[in-house]
Amino acid sequence: MFRFTLLLAALSAMLSTSVAFAPSLAVGRNGFCASSESAMPVRSHSGSKSELNMAADLKGKVAFIAGVADSTGYGWAIAKALADAGATIIVGTWPPVLKIFERGLAKGQFDEDSTLSDGSKMTIEKVYPLDAVFDEPDDVPEDIKTNKRYAGLDGYTISEVAKAVEADYGKIDILVHSLANGPEVTKPLLETSRKGYLAASSASAYSFVSLVQKFGPIMNPESCALSLTYIASEKVIPGYGGGMSSAKAQLESDTRTLAFEAGRKWGMRVNTISAGPLKSRAASAIGKEPGQKTFIEVAIDYSNANAPLAQDLYSDDVGNSGYFLCSPLARTITGVTLYVDNGLHAMGMALDSAALNQ
Ligand SMILES: NC(=O)c1ccc[n+]([C@@H]2O[C@H](COP(=O)([O-])OP(=O)(O)OC[C@H]3O[C@@H](n4cnc5c(N)ncnc54)[C@H](O)[C@@H]3O)[C@@H](O)[C@H]2O)c1
Repeated sequence: MFRFTLLLAALSAMLSTSVAFAPSLAVGRNGFCASSESAMPVRSHSGSKSELNMAADLKGKVAFIAGVADSTGYGWAIAKALADAGATIIVGTWPPVLKIFERGLAKGQFDEDSTLSDGSKMTIEKVYPLDAVFDEPDDVPEDIKTNKRYAGLDGYTISEVAKAVEADYGKIDILVHSLANGPEVTKPLLETSRKGYLAASSASAYSFVSLVQKFGPIMNPESCALSLTYIASEKVIPGYGGGMSSAKAQLESDTRTLAFEAGRKWGMRVNTISAGPLKSRAASAIGKEPGQKTFIEVAIDYSNANAPLAQDLYSDDVGNSGYFLCSPLARTITGVTLYVDNGLHAMGMALDSAALNQ
């Protein structure tokens, strides 16, 4: 709650400051419009604090978050921050972990992690089975259809889920992609097979393209799409293998191209957050050798030792940044990769390098 209040206070302060520096009301959105939109009446804009705070209110907005199966990850934290601002939350969950997630929800296992700033609990209105490596029903191979982890499930391809969401909610406002999968993630790129590389790309990068494609037509004007990326896309992070670094590079590049295409087509904003290391379920599964630190434990320790801000990074930090990017406060921000990593991306030298002590 403290962090959330701080965020709102900081945003209000930022925004009221920017109003103070605005040279004139004539330089607002409509003043620069070259298209037919310039015929639109100029919206009155008092820039008062209360009006700007209202802009952060997400009441009446519907957010679909793909890739939530427990409360440890970034998808959950973003859902919570959006719920805190009043959005209706629906999620897409990978079929192999769907039952365990639904059981956990029913048993109240995530209640403690659902508390919002006013003391109420986040409600997930609906959980849709979603396998983001399939776009259309015809893409689903026989071995998946008959797999016991998919038994009794139907309609989990991206286009079917978009149709189901439309049937339930009509148009929605926020689309979050918080999922990744690389079957060969523990292998260096030099040892990664074509199959493993393409699987990482399919599950972790193309899945975002497909979600934006299929959900675009059911998004309200001024909607936004958001994904999660990792610094391994642009700097070498040993241990983040199997083509996952390549998939994240694709995701960031696609963010820019989709921002242009979906912006022009649907008025949608598209951004990605380059998040610092978090001990989520997915991340904890990388490089689990008995008696040794996992990949993510090393990454967290490294960040604490070397980032400009020597403080813990919580999933809520990314949740709050996701909320900002998905809110009208960020209405002119699109195509960006926003680092939420205590500044680690800015470092070019490791402070704890043994070489510094020689
Ligand atoms: N944890 C970190 O340190 C970290 C850092 C930077 C970026 N990220 C990114 O954040 C996002 C969320 O990951 P997280 O670490 O919070 O873990 P997480 O376990 O909460 O989320 C990953 C989710 O992806 C789902 N998933 C896997 N394959 C899928 C498929 N084919 N279809 C649908 N869902 C599928 C899993 O079931 C899981 O719910 C990922 O894109 C990840 O790369 C994580």
